[in-house]
Amino acid sequence: MGKPKTVFCCTACGHVHPKWFGRCSQCGEWNTLVEEIQPPAGVREEVLRATPGSSRAEPLSGIQVSESERYATGIAEMDRVLGGGLLPGAAILLGGEPGIGKSTLLLQAADQIAARYGRVLYISGEESPAQIKLRAQRLGSQSPELFVKADTQLESIIAEIRSLQPFLAIVDSIQTTAWSELTSAPGSVGQVRDCTALLVRLAKETATPIVLVGHVTKDGNIAGPRMLEHLVDVVLYFEGDPHRHYRILRGIKNRFGSTYEIGLFEMSEKGLREVPNPAAVFAGTGGSRPPGSVVTVMLEGNRPLLLEVQALVAPFHGYGFPRRTVTGIDANRLAMILAVLEKRLNIPLGSRDVFVNVTGGITLSEPAGDLGIAAAILSSYFDISLPSQYILFGEIGLSGEVRAVHGAEPRIREARQLGYNAGMIPAGNARDLRRQGIHFEGWAQAGAVEEMKAALFES
Ligand code: TYD
Ligand code: MG
Repeated sequence: MGKPKTVFCCTACGHVHPKWFGRCSQCGEWNTLVEEIQPPAGVREEVLRATPGSSRAEPLSGIQVSESERYATGIAEMDRVLGGGLLPGAAILLGGEPGIGKSTLLLQAADQIAARYGRVLYISGEESPAQIKLRAQRLGSQSPELFVKADTQLESIIAEIRSLQPFLAIVDSIQTTAWSELTSAPGSVGQVRDCTALLVRLAKETATPIVLVGHVTKDGNIAGPRMLEHLVDVVLYFEGDPHRHYRILRGIKNRFGSTYEIGLFEMSEKGLREVPNPAAVFAGTGGSRPPGSVVTVMLEGNRPLLLEVQALVAPFHGYGFPRRTVTGIDANRLAMILAVLEKRLNIPLGSRDVFVNVTGGITLSEPAGDLGIAAAILSSYFDISLPSQYILFGEIGLSGEVRAVHGAEPRIREARQLGYNAGMIPAGNARDLRRQGIHFEGWAQAGAVEEMKAALFES
């Protein structure tokens, strides 16, 4: 048998290189090669001659399960996203940007769960027990069954979980956890992957649900959580919303329940507060938005994201060309939308200054945002505001047609969960949904910009 061999694997395509390169020669991606230790030659073949372990296959029909094995956390918004509560042995990943409130949410949940079911172990690699205590005091945590430990070493974390035998263990965060067998730094691909795999095994073996916290960087493409999604049973993301102090807990993957659920929270002085009735928050009480403001929903991967588009159409008094100032959308896209509105609707936008802004610093790069941008421009131009709980999405073509976009159903579902019970979607999407037998009360459709204008600004 030979010695272990070091190779470099591309994390994008899996191609194995003998040396490190900046770019994978197979798929052409940059910076995707990571070091791997390969088992000595011969070990791979041995596995084929393995003998059965202690656990043998059994007939599926003979296996007993009880549905009552779900344990509600006591936080209704969280239970819904979890599909009813915690399951024994479940490995749960909670991802989100640093500072969004992951530790706060888990500490609050830990306190509730400890009060209901007994010992909860909260392990932090980022804060000292004293810091956790201060935070817990602020949050009003008081369960004597809540145990904390500052630790970053995988071996001692596992030992602590084994000896304390908590009902639930929380590891905050997976990026600060390191296995001393590995030479790579905490947070590196190898550490994060192997520590997760071992903690998942521990969860199964001890039937302890384990929550792992994973930090996600701004662009969402992290070495951590994305890579871990297939290792765990449940993936939750905690994220902000266009109205910044609200937080959305979103199920991305759930082996035990629906993935489409979201839970809504509000960050306050005393931690996160559940928002059981989002309609009241987002839609106000039947009021309307300021003119020029429109809410649209974009898809980020599979995730719908609500955002507010603001437009200001102002008289142009200067010399030369009127201004076209954009933040968060493509200037060429705006030029196209303005030209279509001018030509199809006879609106003299060419002689106005036009400003368009996507609030919250988000970039709306999807064509599906066109209809919302166009509606925001008309709303400002006519000085007519839209109802506050109204949402629009759709792509606009050069001849003024409103084109169907992909993912209409998840967009509408998200909007409705956040209290937007009315809106306008492309006629093509409305047709498709009807064909599938899906009906949404209160949602209008438009096949062209003329229809949008007539429905929203000519009543
Ligand atoms: P935190 O839970 O530490 O974020 P994460 O673990 O995702 O990095 O949340 C930190 C933010 O939350 C911080 O900016 C302060 C704010 N916060 C409150 O507004 N109220 C509170 O009661 C607490 C505990 C935090
Ligand atoms: Mg934290």
